[in-house]
Amino acid sequence: MDIQPYLEQQRQKIDRFLATLLSDEQAAPKALYDSMRYSLLGGGKRIRPILTLAAAESVGYAGEAVLPYAASLELIHTYSLIHDDLPAMDNDDYRRGRLTNHKVFGEGLAVLAGDALLTMAFELCSRPVTDHPFDPARRVQVIHELALGAGHRGMVGGQVLDIQAENQDISVETLQTIHRYKTGKLIRAAVRIGGILGGASPSQLESLTAYAEAIGLAFQIADDVLNLTGSREELGKDAGTDAKRGKKTYPAFYGIEGARRRADECVARAIEYLHEFDERAAPLRGLATYIVNRRH
Ligand code: IPE
Ligand code: IPE
Ligand code: MG
Ligand code: MG
Repeated sequence: MDIQPYLEQQRQKIDRFLATLLSDEQAAPKALYDSMRYSLLGGGKRIRPILTLAAAESVGYAGEAVLPYAASLELIHTYSLIHDDLPAMDNDDYRRGRLTNHKVFGEGLAVLAGDALLTMAFELCSRPVTDHPFDPARRVQVIHELALGAGHRGMVGGQVLDIQAENQDISVETLQTIHRYKTGKLIRAAVRIGGILGGASPSQLESLTAYAEAIGLAFQIADDVLNLTGSREELGKDAGTDAKRGKKTYPAFYGIEGARRRADECVARAIEYLHEFDERAAPLRGLATYIVNRRH
């Protein structure tokens, strides 16, 4: 399957939906609103929401009702990027081809825009709706997955391990744990949420979870490699920053080629976990390969 047209089509769908979330100028103090819009609607590959849509599709549900849940992952991801770029964390100046949020709006608003995006994700998933295809128990399960993926046992926990590891002589096992949490857990939630909404059986959900854990690690290894091999023009964010901040990465342990090989192995495993899925899992298979071959 040529994944590019699929990615483009799904990205547009997500972008249209996200734009509707922040279209009411009265909805928040204007400065907060502007800051939220700046980061949320300013580019981004939308990989996590696309994974949610593709996971639902892989078990037979291709309806639009998944969109708000998919979008909630992008809200949380965008918040994590705003906070990740703050001077107290990675102290980065560029993101998604533009100045970082705090460079434009100041640190106070950047913190609060992140907080508001995180909260909005849960607002979106818990919206009172009457004609809903998903029963309440399933919706609660999804909200639970989202909280687990985002919080102290998920992305935030990983971010803490990441800053604690700066300038430390960590082992490759520790690095793998950091990657599995800071990046892997939200990707895992994205895939599982799609599976749950799509009506996956327990064994399908298990396979989807194994797939997600493998591509989650591959995704961050690819990010590590791109930090060394990419440029600001390509990446939309500064390159070479990991080494400068004393962050150990996969290439630091294995070299660029060795790191790429490990990411490829994760992808091969991920695709193998889907062996019992039919053609409807073609987008998930394509996404796995895309994750390691991407240039930004
Ligand atoms: C970057 O994520 C941060 C990581 C977790 C590696 P993406 O590469 O998905 O960034 P955007 O959303 O496309 O900007
Ligand atoms: C980002 O990890 C993980 C998040 C939870 C945001 P990095 O700090 O390695 O990602 P980039 O390179 O800044 O996008
Ligand atoms: Mg970081
Ligand atoms: Mg960073």
